[in-house]
Amino acid sequence: MLRVLEHPLGDHIITHLRDKTTKPATFRTLAYQLTLMLAIDATRDLSTEPKEVETPLEPATGRVLTHQPIVVVAILRAGVSMVQPFLDVFPDVSVGYVGLERDHVTAVARAYYCKLPPLVGRHVFVVDPMLATGGSATQAIDAVKQHGGAAPRLVCIIAAPEGVAEVSSHHPDVSIHVGVVDRALNSRKYILPGLGDFGDRLYGT
Ligand code: PRP
Ligand code: URA
Repeated sequence: MLRVLEHPLGDHIITHLRDKTTKPATFRTLAYQLTLMLAIDATRDLSTEPKEVETPLEPATGRVLTHQPIVVVAILRAGVSMVQPFLDVFPDVSVGYVGLERDHVTAVARAYYCKLPPLVGRHVFVVDPMLATGGSATQAIDAVKQHGGAAPRLVCIIAAPEGVAEVSSHHPDVSIHVGVVDRALNSRKYILPGLGDFGDRLYGT
């Protein structure tokens, strides 16, 4: 399942992320804001239960989240930028990291690190801003499933059609939540129009 954010504020933020004159400090803020929107959208089916509270005026019956731990698994390095929004809004979040780096020539991702918390019975969100060939996300989801994470969700800022197809074919049970789906990959497997190298723009490298 592919779900595209389709929100005017999301479009506004993505356009400024694409702009090559956007400096790293602003880029980091925009990445935070867009991820917050994606996190809210990707968790709209979390379960809730009734709760009685007293407002200053009278009793009220509201709803609160049921106890359901969330795990965010960030793909290093750029995925780190998407962790904090989850930590800021959800009450019970733990974080894992999968280190993957694309080879500059082949664009094939090589795994160099994996540290995951317990995943069984938890809602798992794999976060990586760019879904290009889909190789990194597919490997990260492989690792999550090997550690017992069932039907994780993938949350990305920009996806290429090729990446969506790759992840969907390897992991048809994974729902993919994206800010936007771009046109295609170029010969070096960068997303067009994209925003360039997310990690470089984030960290000024
Ligand atoms: C980028 C990006 C994704 C990956 C996407 O990371 O953050 O992880 O490329 O490409 P794919 O879908 O073709 O695998 P990169 O390998 O450049 O590493 P970095 O985050 O350390 O810069
Ligand atoms: N990784 C990026 O950061 N950007 C792309 O366009 C493709 C992979």
